[in-house]
Amino acid sequence: MCGIVGYVGENQAAPILLDGLYKLEYRGYDSAGIAVYGEEGIKVAKARGRLKILDEMTHGGAMLPGTAGIGHTRWATHGAPNDVNAHPHFNRDESIVVVHNGIIENYLKLKKKLEGKGYQFCSETDTEVVAQLLDYYYDGDPLKAITKIMHRMEGSYALGILFKDHPGTVYAVRKDSPLIVGHGQGGNLIASDVPAVLKYTRSVYFIENEEIAKLTKDDITFYNIDEEVLVKEPSEIGWDISAAEKGGYEHFMLKEIYEQPKAIADTLNPRLKDGRIVIEELKMDDEEIRQIHKIFIVACGSAYHTGVTSKYVFEGLARIPTEVDLASEFRYRNPILDEHTLVVIISQSGETADSLAALRLAKSQGVRTLGIVNVVGSSIAREADNVMYTWAGPEIAVATTKAYSTQLIAQYLLALKFAQARRMLPEEELAGYIADLRKIPDQVEMVLGNKEKIQKFANRYLAAKDIFFIGRGIDYAISMEGSLKLKEISYIHSDAYAAGELKHGTISLIEEGTLVVAVLTQAELYKKTISNMVEVRSRGAFVMAVTNSGNQEVEKTADFVIYIPETNRYFTNSLAIIPLQMFGYYVALGKGCDVDKPRNLAKSVTVE
Ligand code: M6R
Repeated sequence: MCGIVGYVGENQAAPILLDGLYKLEYRGYDSAGIAVYGEEGIKVAKARGRLKILDEMTHGGAMLPGTAGIGHTRWATHGAPNDVNAHPHFNRDESIVVVHNGIIENYLKLKKKLEGKGYQFCSETDTEVVAQLLDYYYDGDPLKAITKIMHRMEGSYALGILFKDHPGTVYAVRKDSPLIVGHGQGGNLIASDVPAVLKYTRSVYFIENEEIAKLTKDDITFYNIDEEVLVKEPSEIGWDISAAEKGGYEHFMLKEIYEQPKAIADTLNPRLKDGRIVIEELKMDDEEIRQIHKIFIVACGSAYHTGVTSKYVFEGLARIPTEVDLASEFRYRNPILDEHTLVVIISQSGETADSLAALRLAKSQGVRTLGIVNVVGSSIAREADNVMYTWAGPEIAVATTKAYSTQLIAQYLLALKFAQARRMLPEEELAGYIADLRKIPDQVEMVLGNKEKIQKFANRYLAAKDIFFIGRGIDYAISMEGSLKLKEISYIHSDAYAAGELKHGTISLIEEGTLVVAVLTQAELYKKTISNMVEVRSRGAFVMAVTNSGNQEVEKTADFVIYIPETNRYFTNSLAIIPLQMFGYYVALGKGCDVDKPRNLAKSVTVE
């Protein structure tokens, strides 16, 4: 939610800031702004709407000359998305300017106090309070003012700050919102995420909570909240900028859909060694695994949907009781956790506020935690006891595809590891599952071959009002994700139902021509779901089915069928989700929606 950048160096700052903001636009895109320190002091330009508007308004940044600056792309929390609420925000005499990602939870209290001291505010944002609070404490020493406001602010923040008295210097500080520092040639940068700096450097520092960075052209100095200097080591980023570019595809989402075979193989292969599953990052031997009597999978959105599938996989293969929770519920429901519990937090970004809070809750109760995370060095990755990375590479489209697929793979591996340690699987069965895992990348590739067929079918539903997804067991979990993919990017209302639940109310919504997408990958449930398809069809529904090859029987009840290659019953999600991702994509494309940046959404949800 919101992206921030900063630059100080030999080059003009504004074009570098705009370029970095384009890489961060997935984090929020309702307004954007930059502040540049030039010969005439600090100049700000900001505009409601996409970054392109600001880019054109400033002639690619040429209207704001200067070699130090900060920038912001916003996902509105406090105050409507308009020019006034857009960042950066000044203090009262325009000598301090701030960009912010996060939420200052006590901003109203701070605002009232400042108003009592004569401060006036022009925006509705919590960020303007930060700028004015800095003003209040500033006596010529930026570091002192920053540490003072850190003691006063509650909530989360990543801040980029310029002080008029300190030309050629960018300050940055973070708590519970991501921020990295890039060490470049002839200049240094700050950013909310790595892609914004990759064009200039692969050497980055991950700033920890409550750490401050002071950047000049040639130096980077880190401090803690007590103003003591910290020694930090940079990390080398292992991928280059092309991984975060569209590479000829019309949208990042389509590119990422097609990257799934590779992302799955990258997540899988390093953990399959000599016919065994080796998850070194788990740091648990078989005896320790056997001490785990219950698993909680906790996540949000699509990551939660992978957990719904994994419950069946963990319970089916490893026979270990598994609960799946939405992080936003788990954190407030006083879950029963003990030393025999493992809490698995799943997150692409590793920054989702609710998932992070759930992790901290589990840790505060002394429970063992494991993060399944995509973004290296993110908060959840750093704070979980152990982290198993999904190697999906950078995922830019707001609608997740390849990260979702790799989260599934990580959980299959984990479930098989637990099954192995708990002696629930004879060797030959385990070998069979491993063989099935190895086939998944090629099988996904095969399903991707249905592109034309799905696009043609999707084009018939551009004007649909409601589309329902139904399935049972793992097929219900697949339906939940299929439905989310469609609605988040096409804005068509959609819901997923456990197929047997339809007749308890929802079936009244079925009208002549309503599309119902039925998922049938669980052979023992085919007949049951087919009965539900018959029920909706006889009420006028048009039925699309996604099923295993060989289940031709379904053609008697479905109007349109996509077949997936044969795998075992636990891994079908990895194949059945592909046509549903493509269906959502092509409906949204046909409707002319902004596929990569759907309205009201942002890629990483760092607010509660
Ligand atoms: O970064 P996370 O995996 O923690 O994000 C969780 C959800 O916000 C995310 O999966 C969201 O539902 C997807 N963008 C939907 O496509």
